[in-house]
Amino acid sequence: MTDTLRLGVNIDHVATVRNARGSAYPDPLRAAKLAEEAGADGITAHLREDRRHISDGDIEALMEALTVPLNFEMAATTEMQAIALRHKPHAVCIVPEKREERTTEGGLEVAREENKLAHFIAPLAEAGCRVSIFIAADARQIEAAHRIGAAVVELHTGAYCDAHAEGRFDERDAELERLCEMSTFAHSLGLEVHAGHGLTYDTVQPIAAFPEVRELNIGHFIIGEAIFRGLTPAIQEMRRLMDEARS
Ligand code: PXP
Repeated sequence: MTDTLRLGVNIDHVATVRNARGSAYPDPLRAAKLAEEAGADGITAHLREDRRHISDGDIEALMEALTVPLNFEMAATTEMQAIALRHKPHAVCIVPEKREERTTEGGLEVAREENKLAHFIAPLAEAGCRVSIFIAADARQIEAAHRIGAAVVELHTGAYCDAHAEGRFDERDAELERLCEMSTFAHSLGLEVHAGHGLTYDTVQPIAAFPEVRELNIGHFIIGEAIFRGLTPAIQEMRRLMDEARS
């Protein structure tokens, strides 16, 4: 019997659509409340430095209205640290951020920035936030995340998903193998293991089947799929696939 697998629904791209027209809709908070009702165990939102999707006001509204935990994704900047310390979300996930990227492209370089990151996350952990570090499935980065005192590592599934989408199946299988080994390794160090980025109905099950993985954070695909089948059924289908893989 494996532990249950939580689904964190990332609502960033509801805000992307809203911001495309500078309107007040669609409202990410409304999506988050629907996601809660549809069975999401948490909501994830990334407040980027350039505010291209989620806004400061969205974070405030989510903190006020959510009944499930908020996983606040942020870059390791003093501005974001101050915002996190003001709101004290359930979890903060530290991600790398480059202005010119379309999305979070790789994992955080923890090993080379150990001291800096250890000092950066200490006040967040002291404030009661569960600190998660978004990293590649790489033993060096996992060991460094452990040394700096992170509670959680989120393993980047983007390379696995890209290889699948582009039909590079040998590479996909090698990535999957690496993710599997590294989730076991991280768990053996006492880290809680999460995973996410680029997951779809086609790619979620092999990751959901890893017994050490406790949470998946999924956004872009779910919001896209919601256009065709509605947000609630889109989330429910992801939940069903995760539960099926887990059993
Ligand atoms: N996890 C992290 C740390 C992320 O940065 C993102 C993207 O914001 C996701 C999960 C979700 O990725 P996607 O939107 O591709 O499902």
